[in-house]
Amino acid sequence: MNPTDNYTAVSLFTIPPDEPLPFSVSVYYRGHFVLYRKSGQAFDVGKYNRFIYKRISKLYISDADLDSYKEFVRQRQAIEEQKFNDPKLSVEQKVTNKTIRSLDLTTRELFAGSDEDMGANVAKVVGVAKDTVQRICERPYLRIFDSIPSSSSVISHSMRVSLMATFLGYQLGFVNPLALENLAAAGMLHDIGKTRLAMPDEIEMTEEQEKEIELNHSTLSVEELKKFPLVPEEVVHIITEHHERRDGTGFPNKMRGRQMHGLTKVFVIANTFDNLVTQFPGEREAKCRLAAEKMEQEMRAWFEPMLLPKALKLLVAPG
Ligand SMILES: [Fe+2]
Ligand SMILES: [Fe+2]
Repeated sequence: MNPTDNYTAVSLFTIPPDEPLPFSVSVYYRGHFVLYRKSGQAFDVGKYNRFIYKRISKLYISDADLDSYKEFVRQRQAIEEQKFNDPKLSVEQKVTNKTIRSLDLTTRELFAGSDEDMGANVAKVVGVAKDTVQRICERPYLRIFDSIPSSSSVISHSMRVSLMATFLGYQLGFVNPLALENLAAAGMLHDIGKTRLAMPDEIEMTEEQEKEIELNHSTLSVEELKKFPLVPEEVVHIITEHHERRDGTGFPNKMRGRQMHGLTKVFVIANTFDNLVTQFPGEREAKCRLAAEKMEQEMRAWFEPMLLPKALKLLVAPG
């Protein structure tokens, strides 16, 4: 019997800790599915965190329980939606709540699973990165996100890049809070120019026009940002340069490494890493390794050689 026949893999993050579950949950261990929680039991938060620490992000639901799992997820989503649409909340509060929730999930996805005994130092840096991104999400220019459909992959990519760039920045010596905030802001905003691709009146674009937007989206992002006051100059630099490469083969200006801003050199590593990770199939750990290998072997000339090895090591295993 094929062991995957009767089970469906689901994300750990769809299952809340400390809540009785109306379905059984299994884990895959040494080639077998093992019943982990029977229907009616809950994950205590300690066990739940243990999974995260061990980078186990998939759990398994048997076919018999699949419908009640789906219904459970649907109901929870409906409750969350209701919370965010509570008429008593101001628009700002709704946006902030939503952002904080996705920031929590994204931080866990990226870092919490690094190692069971993630050193206190790494935990501290992850905390600094998360706090920095949260502060940035409360800035007026982040309202730009309100116009992007929440399903757009630009939003999740931007949050991941924002967290990873800030985490890397700190670890690589940019400990000044303003520098970190600028990395975080650039992470959130660097690809907003791309969302013009999704404008309804531009759906009929030709492949060539799409390519044109891709090649110019750094500039388009900056144009969008200029509609807002008080965007720091350093953020504009990073966004303008985020597809430039050290060897001069990047776009839109074919800049060389020595012309690029110091923070851009950190930023491009996080951005390229995330773009590659999302292209590979499989579990996050394997995807991260493949992305790092590709960057080391095929793209090495794009990045600052003093930063790349350490940055990749930190991104693959932050602990
Ligand atoms: Fe980009
Ligand atoms: Fe990007």
